[in-house]
Amino acid sequence: MIIPKPVKIELKDETFSLNEKTIIAVTEQTKKIGEFIAEELRAATGLPLPIKNSHPSDNFISLSREENLNDEGYELISSPVGITITAQKSAGFFYGWQSLRQLLPAAVFGKNIVGNISWTVPCVEINDAPRFKWRGLMLDSCRHFWDVDFIKKFIDLMALHKFNIFHWHLTEDQGWRIEIKKYPKLTEIAAWRKEDDGKKYGGFYSQKQIREIVEYAAERYITVLPEIEMPGHSEAAIATYPELSCMGAPVEIPNKWGVFENVYCAGNENVFAFLEDVLIEVFQLFPGKYIHIGGDECPKANWKKCPKCQQRIIDEKLKNEDELQSYFIRRMENFINKNGKNLIGWDEILEGGLAPNATVMSWRGTEGGISAAKQGHDVVMSPTTHCYFDYPQKSDGKIDIGGATTTTEKVFEFEPIPNILSEEEARHVLGGQGNIWTEHIATKARLEEMAYPRACALAEKLWSQKNSADYADFEKRLAHHFKRLDILSVNYYDFI
Ligand code: ACM
Ligand code: ZN
Repeated sequence: MIIPKPVKIELKDETFSLNEKTIIAVTEQTKKIGEFIAEELRAATGLPLPIKNSHPSDNFISLSREENLNDEGYELISSPVGITITAQKSAGFFYGWQSLRQLLPAAVFGKNIVGNISWTVPCVEINDAPRFKWRGLMLDSCRHFWDVDFIKKFIDLMALHKFNIFHWHLTEDQGWRIEIKKYPKLTEIAAWRKEDDGKKYGGFYSQKQIREIVEYAAERYITVLPEIEMPGHSEAAIATYPELSCMGAPVEIPNKWGVFENVYCAGNENVFAFLEDVLIEVFQLFPGKYIHIGGDECPKANWKKCPKCQQRIIDEKLKNEDELQSYFIRRMENFINKNGKNLIGWDEILEGGLAPNATVMSWRGTEGGISAAKQGHDVVMSPTTHCYFDYPQKSDGKIDIGGATTTTEKVFEFEPIPNILSEEEARHVLGGQGNIWTEHIATKARLEEMAYPRACALAEKLWSQKNSADYADFEKRLAHHFKRLDILSVNYYDFI
């Protein structure tokens, strides 16, 4: 019935129905979340659902705090007299609400009032808390650009599935998408590429829009993790400021996909000054603890030829270009740490030696994550085998990235903690993440069908207890979940 499946759910025979007289009973501490819930509930039900600071003996949805629950955990008890959600923190109430929404008729997900419905909830006792604290989805806004309203819809869907990290890929070879006040050319020039037909393609998020999205996500207990790529995948910035590359030669912003050799010069102080300036503005916009610096797929051919890079290798007593990459990342980590934030990067940051406090996002399988966890570093598992939602899920003649077919069932087989890790090492696995790269995803409809329902399966792997359901059980719940996604106008891939 609920996705992701709660730790414990006990179903009873009776029911409770919301009506004109139902009140939302809150305390001073739960008033804000109570108002959020009431507002969402009123949209489809049209019920008044007044917020009251008192607790009636029946016909209520009550939000009451209790100290010794998990930070994100909750209890939900529905009985014939009312519904009580208990949690320690607001996030817990929010997740309790996500479960309650799924206990109500699917019509509750509508944005407009639906008449002639009995808003009935089965009586249950739910005890719930997440297995992992990092439950992420990444969206690439660079290869293709997504408008603010769509980003909000994406965040709404994440919230429904109890994801809590929105990893936002904001800079790339093919486009720079974040306004940086100190470098206006990044949005005047780097945000726009010329397509083969001569048309301009691109866009960017103003700092105002970014603040709006960060706040929107925070209201849904989702942290936005910005990714500012370095030293590779940076050609849009380099096309705009050619002096940031080794050769300094003028280049066009590419309109083709791939891995490009033009990367930031690791021997040039101006590169570090530029990136630090960018990050200073990024720190202001994103209150979360982590900054993602990319770090993946950085070809070293130019560094091998560049006198400045070679001089850096000598000066810093580095062995080779891998160590030069490590120097680059360590130096950025030092800056990020000094500003009170933590660095996270793709698993290539292991090459040449991991920066002292770095968290590793393992994408080329789980090996990078295993190696990092064994070195005592935190890890987010995001292997291409199960977590790449740009990989094909069916043969439909459409071009996807060339990975192996990744069905929803395959995603459901994902286990973030490899057997090989000891209990101590396994504690470094913060959780997992699904990635949606958009080279071959140009429309909202395509994006939704690539993301859903694979993201539903991933949500269950990250929230629910290990082996708490088999795939048949999940698929049964998913078939019902599709009714909710229909009402939410999600263009999911309907394979059931
Ligand atoms: C990646 O997929 N290049 C992290
Ligand atoms: Zn160089």
